[in-house]
Amino acid sequence: MNKSIFPGNFLWGGATAANQLEGAYNEDGKGLSISDLLLGGDVDTPRTITTEIEKGKFYPSHEAIDHYHRYKEDVALFAEMGFKVYRFSIAWSRIYPTGLENEPNEEGLRFYDNLIAELKKYNIEPMITISHYESPVELTRKFNGWESRKMIDHYVKFATTLLDRYKDDVKYWLTFNEINILSRDVGVGTYLGGGMYPDDIDDFLNTKNIDNSQQRFQALHHQFVASAKVVNYARSLNKDLHMGCMIAYRMIYPLTSHPKDVKFAQEMTNVSNFYCGDVQVKGYYPYFAKKFWQDRNIKIKFEDGDEDILKSGTVDYYTFSYYQSSTVTATDETAEKQVGNFFNGVKNPYLEASEWGWEIDPLGLRTALNQIYERYELPLMVVENGLGAVDELVERSGEKMVDDDYRIDYLQSHIQAMKEAIEEGVNLVGYTSWGPIDLVSAGTGQMHKRYGYIYVDKHDDGSGDLSRYKKKSFYWYKDVISTNGEDLENN
Ligand code: BG6
Repeated sequence: MNKSIFPGNFLWGGATAANQLEGAYNEDGKGLSISDLLLGGDVDTPRTITTEIEKGKFYPSHEAIDHYHRYKEDVALFAEMGFKVYRFSIAWSRIYPTGLENEPNEEGLRFYDNLIAELKKYNIEPMITISHYESPVELTRKFNGWESRKMIDHYVKFATTLLDRYKDDVKYWLTFNEINILSRDVGVGTYLGGGMYPDDIDDFLNTKNIDNSQQRFQALHHQFVASAKVVNYARSLNKDLHMGCMIAYRMIYPLTSHPKDVKFAQEMTNVSNFYCGDVQVKGYYPYFAKKFWQDRNIKIKFEDGDEDILKSGTVDYYTFSYYQSSTVTATDETAEKQVGNFFNGVKNPYLEASEWGWEIDPLGLRTALNQIYERYELPLMVVENGLGAVDELVERSGEKMVDDDYRIDYLQSHIQAMKEAIEEGVNLVGYTSWGPIDLVSAGTGQMHKRYGYIYVDKHDDGSGDLSRYKKKSFYWYKDVISTNGEDLENN
């Protein structure tokens, strides 16, 4: 076999978030998180948020795929695929049920002690996302989440508890999932990323589309300070801990070569990607921030010392999610809209889309890798990527499985793009595809939108016996890992 293009210690694996797979939403002392109040939606219907748990309604996170009770079986399957790393988040409200306690909930921590021990048993490197769309709802009720500076202390308390406990077992940490979700005016993103209701809760609950950019950008400032404080704390414990940022990378194209479209695409790239990336990597706001605030009448409140904290608490590596690219125009009002995760733009005439309208663009990943590496020259990791698709469980020779060639095609072309970027000199150190086991979709709340190598018998109405089945892609990814990315063929 040829020598692999991927470095020998390349971290292959998968990524999940507690609220999308654990279930057990009220067990062993866990409090309610913001995600526990989200109902399901679908491709055309946005998810709805309730302020309390309402009887008779179905909340997808409450059982999810019951990983809380089945983590041993799930980790064994990850190990069978040969995972080198597993990225997961820690449910904040399992550790601090309301966020306000002074002492952590031991029972909640014990679950993660066990999960980490199980990963270690198979030599799988744990990678922790400290906050992934699941802050305790009490912090939203008390002071509207990250709008308030008080969140910084609560978050730091939570993060330092984790760092103290796991500093010897966990090398890789991410402070916030997709921190840049708050740089975009998408309603549910404000709730998930910031734990905030914009100004008027009733309007927000009804329309989910009220925006308050002052609030979003101030909340982001609080998150930047919180992240930097935690990075500094981690360094004081052990300089070898790897502290990273996580950006939902928006690879943006202009619809046409009209200079106005090109300029607009550049401006969107700045605010969507570099606003957050620069603060977390360079330790200061980018040059365009002041004018951006002025134009929108945003006034960011800095406290004494904030600038120094940001400067000292920069990250060691840059991670990002990449599912699709996005195309924008400043000249064509009639261009057809593209539906997408948290990025809306217009349809790109050259790209095919998934069943959920997410445009498939492996070359966009290649360009993104170059763009990011040129700007930051830090080790990079793709920590989310994958195809959400409808899978059909079939029976073959007495065994249930899924022929998910479409998923293999998607992943294969994206891994190929990573390979080419590495060949060109980009320092890419790992890849954790999203949802290695089917889980609840963050955007729509569906189970029906599946990403996994492992099928879970669970459906949008809550039915299913939760059995796990290996899909065709399970065996394919196992080969990819065992050949260190050399064999990408779908045999
Ligand atoms: C990312 C999130 O935005 O995309 C994940 O970090 C999410 O939580 C993933 O699940 C895929 O999005 P969706 O809406 O298909 O679940």
